[in-house]
Amino acid sequence: MTHDPLYHLSPVWSHMTKIRMERGEGSYIYDVNGQRYIDFTCGIGVTNTGHSHPRIVKAVQEQAAKLIHGQITIVIPEMAIKLAEALNEVTPDPIDCFFFSNSGAEATEGAVKLARQATKRTNIVTMQGSFHGRTAQAMAMTNSKTSYRVGYQPLPAGVFVAPFPYSYYFGWDEDETVDFCIKQFKQMLKTQTAPEETAAVVIEPVLGEGGYVPAPARYLQELRDICSEHGIMFIADEVQTGFGRTGHFWAFEHAGIVPDIIIMAKGLGSGMPISGVGASRALMEKWPTGSHGGTYGGGAIQTAAALETVRIMQDEHLPQRAEELGEYLMKGLKDLQAEFPVIGDVRGRGLMIGVEFSDENRYPDKATTKAVLAECVNRHLLLLICGYGEHVIRWVPPLTVTREQIDDALKIFGEALAIATSVGETASA
Ligand SMILES: Cc1ncc(COP(=O)(O)O)c(C=O)c1O
Repeated sequence: MTHDPLYHLSPVWSHMTKIRMERGEGSYIYDVNGQRYIDFTCGIGVTNTGHSHPRIVKAVQEQAAKLIHGQITIVIPEMAIKLAEALNEVTPDPIDCFFFSNSGAEATEGAVKLARQATKRTNIVTMQGSFHGRTAQAMAMTNSKTSYRVGYQPLPAGVFVAPFPYSYYFGWDEDETVDFCIKQFKQMLKTQTAPEETAAVVIEPVLGEGGYVPAPARYLQELRDICSEHGIMFIADEVQTGFGRTGHFWAFEHAGIVPDIIIMAKGLGSGMPISGVGASRALMEKWPTGSHGGTYGGGAIQTAAALETVRIMQDEHLPQRAEELGEYLMKGLKDLQAEFPVIGDVRGRGLMIGVEFSDENRYPDKATTKAVLAECVNRHLLLLICGYGEHVIRWVPPLTVTREQIDDALKIFGEALAIATSVGETASA
């Protein structure tokens, strides 16, 4: 009998590839056989500073040699204080106070707990297509695909779902889409969740798992106004959009608004597990001391990695790079769209770009999406799929990527498109 090397790993994990990864460097990963892959997944939007950035490696090594675990409710790791100060530099006023945990789901749970305590209200509004994590409350707030929820009902109650301004899906222009979604939101406050019961609205400024769809600035501005009018907390889930990815440090900055609460994770630690909730000190003071916490949150190594991440972002001007290189990548992808009509839409902000595959009625074309991805993997380019119909290829390169690496990836993508679409033509002929 042959031994399955994955036998002792729980099959609950899905695996996009069976690549056994040994090391990473910048935009590349190397498998155990020394084969090199361009990694434009960033481990689902995590390694924004590139794999094993030398400064992150040094910060983690130095911190590990000094202190690995200092529990924040017993002693206070120096790095946690420094990280909070650094985050204060990169968040707009009045956000100046931070809570740390380990994953995006945990930060989502924390943000909701904070909003409920601060408002003394119960209900939460999330967006159609949103993804906030795999724990019970986060799952109840996740609507990107039923597969994240099937078999886990009943989920926590008090969650209501508003339409997300996804113009391509609706088939309308941006203004029409925003008008519709704001009208629906207002109706929701009259028919489903009364303002006096609504603690928070949680929104990804660019839908992640839901298909890499940026919310138009006017939608975010009008939503912000509605929240302010009714004392509802505006929570920006910046887990995937944050840390420079969209061309600003935070994606909500594109709309010129300030949320009440920010959820952050992924890019924050360059790969070390750390997440955070940011809000004003005044708001944080409404969260009763001891009513939330965790063993590892604010731990020494994670906070050291996150502090160095902030400094790299600043020193290497990574948000600006994301903007410039994002425009370059977007142009390359739009050129391919002109060549391959199976690409219905190319959209995004900065280095967070989605390529949607659809038929002439804008229904998802999952088969082509999967075929293109498989051809990319065969050619050693790693990309990810998202969207409710598994029909969007997302581009999430590190913010340290070079133009040459983008050119290499676009060339492979073009080849993959040519092969995948010609197979489709032959099959249907
Ligand atoms: C927008 C968003 N929020 C929350 C999460 C959950 O983060 P985690 O997987 O670290 O729990 C994710 C993960 O993909 C995400 O993209």
